[in-house]
Amino acid sequence: MTGPAPMPMVGLREDAVVDAADGVVTITQPFGAVTLRGVPRAVESLLRELPGTLAGEDDLAERLLAAGGTSQEAAVLYLTLSRLHPVLVHAVEPLLRVAPIARDAGFRLPALTPQDTVSLSRFAFVRRSEQGLVLESPMSRHRVTLTEDAMPLLAALARPVLVKEAPEALAHLVAAGMAFAGDAEERDPALRAWDFHDLLFHSRSRSGRHDQPFGATFRFADELPPEPAVKRPPEGAAVELYAPSLEEAAVADPPFTTVLESRRSVREYAAPPTLRQLGELLYRAARVKDVHGPVPGRPYEASSRPYPGGGAAYELELYLTVARCEGLDGGVYYYDPLGHRLVTLPARPEDTRAMLAVARLATGGLADPDVLITVTSRFRRVSWKYSGLAYAATLKNVGVLYQTFYLVATAMGMAPCALGSGDADLAARAFGLDWATESSVGDFLIGGAPAGSGP
Ligand SMILES: Cc1cc2nc3c(=O)[nH]c(=O)nc-3n(C[C@H](O)[C@H](O)[C@H](O)COP(=O)(O)O)c2cc1C
Repeated sequence: MTGPAPMPMVGLREDAVVDAADGVVTITQPFGAVTLRGVPRAVESLLRELPGTLAGEDDLAERLLAAGGTSQEAAVLYLTLSRLHPVLVHAVEPLLRVAPIARDAGFRLPALTPQDTVSLSRFAFVRRSEQGLVLESPMSRHRVTLTEDAMPLLAALARPVLVKEAPEALAHLVAAGMAFAGDAEERDPALRAWDFHDLLFHSRSRSGRHDQPFGATFRFADELPPEPAVKRPPEGAAVELYAPSLEEAAVADPPFTTVLESRRSVREYAAPPTLRQLGELLYRAARVKDVHGPVPGRPYEASSRPYPGGGAAYELELYLTVARCEGLDGGVYYYDPLGHRLVTLPARPEDTRAMLAVARLATGGLADPDVLITVTSRFRRVSWKYSGLAYAATLKNVGVLYQTFYLVATAMGMAPCALGSGDADLAARAFGLDWATESSVGDFLIGGAPAGSGP
């Protein structure tokens, strides 16, 4: 690779704060702080100047000596910098800068020979950010900022690259966990088990391994109103649903432990469900019980439903694709959880058939679905409040709704089965939804009664 000779340099992130007094230096960054003791004054003042700057380690030592420092203090400077490696920015100017984004961002340059090869991790990806073009990876506790000069190297990394082509830059990418020597990554059985997107989602939807905003940040509070607690139902012919007496249900239900212990996934049916059964199931598992206005600490409308929901946001919506149901025409319906009624949607028959075919496939062809309940998410309900974990929270909410359906259906003698896959594009088309605004995140089959359970 041609271009100016690359220069290794160190510095601190622009947002690092250095507190130094009486030999005690504390460096605070968004993800944590480190404290060093016994630091000479001459080293203290160099460290204070490091945030947002870069310098060669030898240049820093020369600066210390030029300012009247002793050679012993210069030796302490090298030692201090080596102890600070996990919190420093490591740059290969003018190609790239490696900045720590998490605690314990170990950074150790590997011993590589010119004939070794280095490969980019299959988990690494490039994206545009406020810092410019950045290389990130769930395998790394660093972020690498790339300059235009780094583009030939990046392009070359489509394949393994000989170390002699770019020794400094490649060693820095390996030290940052963005690349690896030889076939180390392919040989790691723990890593082979991860899909690229799953590992990225895992690393970013929990705290500790990145420096992104996380948790209840209410980042859109000043820009966008929160989505309403209850979605405005679409236009369409309404089908009123049966609302059971909960007192009667409580008497008729088997004991809780019997329900829990007899719950199973059922994929063969004795009979299709009735409209009355569907009404009871939806009422007991998914209706809106109450709507609450904003309160201090929760500046958005919330609701109560029979299942728990993160932040009481209740972003999940239900759509029914009906093949057979006594008392209800086949077709596609939206469940209005406040009005407790179905709203008929104008789905094309081929989309209805395709929804049912995809559900059947998810059971390995075992079920011939009578009623498919598809769960969609109004994503902005959750992301208006939460940064980083919004989608993970939605999937957890789908899980608790699944279990609520399982338990109510079991208590009612119906045939429940959760599904782990569904076609989000097809569902958006069948339900007339914008994929990015509200799309499917879960599917659940429901039959009238399990096969073998009698009429
Ligand atoms: C999140 C989740 C996804 C599932 N996905 C499917 C699926 O796609 N197809 C299917 O036939 N069963 C699916 N099931 C049902 C499981 O196969 C079933 O719960 C498991 O085999 C245990 O059996 P049991 O539910 O009868 O106790 C799923 C269950 C859950 C909780």
